[in-house]
Amino acid sequence: MNAPFSPEALTALRAELASGARPLFIDGVFGPAAAGATIDVIDPATGDVFATAACGDAGDIDRAVQAARRAFDGGAWPATTPAMRARLMTRLADLIEAHGERIALTESLDNGMPFMMAKFGGVMGASEQLRYNAGWATKITGETVTPSAPGEWHAFSRREPVGVVGAIVPWNFPFVMAVAKIAPALAAGCTVVLKPAEQTPLSAVILAELIAEAGFPAGVVNIVNGYGQTAGAALVDHPLVDKITFTGSTSVGKAIVRAATGNLKRVTLELGGKSPVVIFADADLDKAIPAAAMGIFGNAGQICAAGSRLFVHDSVYDRVVEGIVARAGSLRVGNGQAPGTEMGPLVSQVQRDRVMGYIASGADEGATVACGGQRLEGPGYFVQPTVLTGTMAGMKVVDEEIFGPVLCVMRFGEDDIDTIAAAANEGSYGLSSSIWTRDMSNGLRLANRLKAGTVRINGGGGVDPALPLGGFKQSGWGRENGRAGVEAFTELKSVTVAL
Ligand code: NAI
Ligand code: MG
Repeated sequence: MNAPFSPEALTALRAELASGARPLFIDGVFGPAAAGATIDVIDPATGDVFATAACGDAGDIDRAVQAARRAFDGGAWPATTPAMRARLMTRLADLIEAHGERIALTESLDNGMPFMMAKFGGVMGASEQLRYNAGWATKITGETVTPSAPGEWHAFSRREPVGVVGAIVPWNFPFVMAVAKIAPALAAGCTVVLKPAEQTPLSAVILAELIAEAGFPAGVVNIVNGYGQTAGAALVDHPLVDKITFTGSTSVGKAIVRAATGNLKRVTLELGGKSPVVIFADADLDKAIPAAAMGIFGNAGQICAAGSRLFVHDSVYDRVVEGIVARAGSLRVGNGQAPGTEMGPLVSQVQRDRVMGYIASGADEGATVACGGQRLEGPGYFVQPTVLTGTMAGMKVVDEEIFGPVLCVMRFGEDDIDTIAAAANEGSYGLSSSIWTRDMSNGLRLANRLKAGTVRINGGGGVDPALPLGGFKQSGWGRENGRAGVEAFTELKSVTVAL
């Protein structure tokens, strides 16, 4: 359901993007990578290169880290009051909203997602992150404490910024993820080097332009596009970086943990999931069916919290599967800038091939393809919305994150909450989960038993900057969003005075 945007804006944007490589942003200055390298940027709806971006390497990362270090250690940033930081962040949110159409179109071209998703999920989500975290800038506090040691004391704790933050983000929601990492870091008083994903470098350059326009001092935020193995790894290895905040694959998350031991950087990780959706017999199916469908087909399944394992009670199983298959059949799959598109392509050929490999493995292991299962003919990296039935734990399609529009459906017969929880808790992930029931006692009893950072009952909305987000088990370390999300960018210090 794409509201019309101005066609002139798209034409102008395409011309601008074709006019030269998008620069790096280091120490307040826009420029090419020192070695002159660039990344070809591919439109996933066509497979065509439509832009290029400067491709930073370890040397560029070092320049950026040095700039962030200077800005943190003695530059303008420590001298900026919390209220001033909040003001700058709010100004950036205003600028993001004012440039919303351009950002959303860029994101749609770069990632393939529908324009309206880029606008509401991406642009508005990003500005809300800044507004929410701007509120925290003036509210980060410690406590006064009465120690038990003999004597008279004044003792208190204070929260200080952790320092220079390396933020590494993926390609599935490039703009809002970048902002969701930068915003709490800035609120806490940190400086940042952002390394966007190589598949989607473009919207971060607009973010850099708006950061400069908002008036942040040089070096407070630096944005270096480049590949994970080079620029990303250099950021994780850098001895002057105090913390890495990462969203992406579990394997890279584990590599980051190992690499961070050099200077024992603080690390927070958001590593995706294999989130269960449980539909009880008494669920409001008119709501549960479309929600379950869009919970896996939204953004072509490239969502960390995608509901990819569906557990349905026997008595409503046929109706639910038929409903989701019907929704899959009516889903408008196409170019993200076309009006009406509900699902775009996968981000890259690599991701398309990975998803097709999973679908083939599911069929090999005995799953039934209830609908979809094919790539679309023609250019672009489109995969049909796919429903697999007859799936069970132990199959790759059930155990591993597919990150594509592929739903695995399983049935349950009894209503024993512990049995249902045990099935939903299988596997190595624990990011999110959904429950559909009219019996709130059952719903909350199951919620208590699920090993997941988020539980949504009967819908429960999307990502909110005020609600902690993160994973149990191998879905990650730490939490983003909410108070915990800001405090993750601080060090806690105790100060004691013997009076
Ligand atoms: P990835 O984990 O390789 O990429 C994410 C980010 O990490 C990118 O910016 C990349 O450049 C960077 N990176 C890669 N290797 C690095 C290294 N050695 N050191 C530092 N940074 C590094 O994810 P990829 O390969 O694009 O996708 C693979 C799978 O990961 C997907 O199929 C999906 O299952 C999962 N994934 C999960 C996401 C989530 O939201 N939790 C987002 C993206 C991918
Ligand atoms: Mg990778």
